[in-house]
Amino acid sequence: MSSSAARPVQGGAPDWNQLVESARAVMQNAYAPYSDFLVGAALLAENGQVFTGCNVENAAYPAGICAERSAIAAAVAQGQQKFTALVICTLADVPTPPCGMCRQVLEEFAPELPVLSVTSSGAEARWTMSELLPAAFTPTSLRHQ
Ligand code: THU
Repeated sequence: MSSSAARPVQGGAPDWNQLVESARAVMQNAYAPYSDFLVGAALLAENGQVFTGCNVENAAYPAGICAERSAIAAAVAQGQQKFTALVICTLADVPTPPCGMCRQVLEEFAPELPVLSVTSSGAEARWTMSELLPAAFTPTSLRHQ
């Protein structure tokens, strides 16, 4: 949805607290009148920029987009295609993992991405992309003679 200014330290360890804050803030902008399930995502690009996204639902249900893919689209539109961390924030009882379609889209750009999911109650879960999407279909899967 948007990007914040480049952080001064590039290439270091992700500032997970900053990402959680960004994901929590953007979650407030989620448009989810049908599911009432608000999601915020904050994606750290290799250059230090943070791109955020929220879910945007639609009366034609399949036209809705998830927070994670919204964040990736924002990043790619700004020329960033390499990512080092993702935070997902929801109000759910347990930390929300990215949906299957988002896993596939994340895989395209960041097969090693560490993912942190947090809830408003403070519960947390961490995964890597290879845990979330083993045996993935990737760009190399398209190779043929
Ligand atoms: N949703 C996300 O934004 N990200 C996920 O990883 C899981 C699901 C959204 C889609 C829909 O707007 C709502 O949550 C309920 O599925």
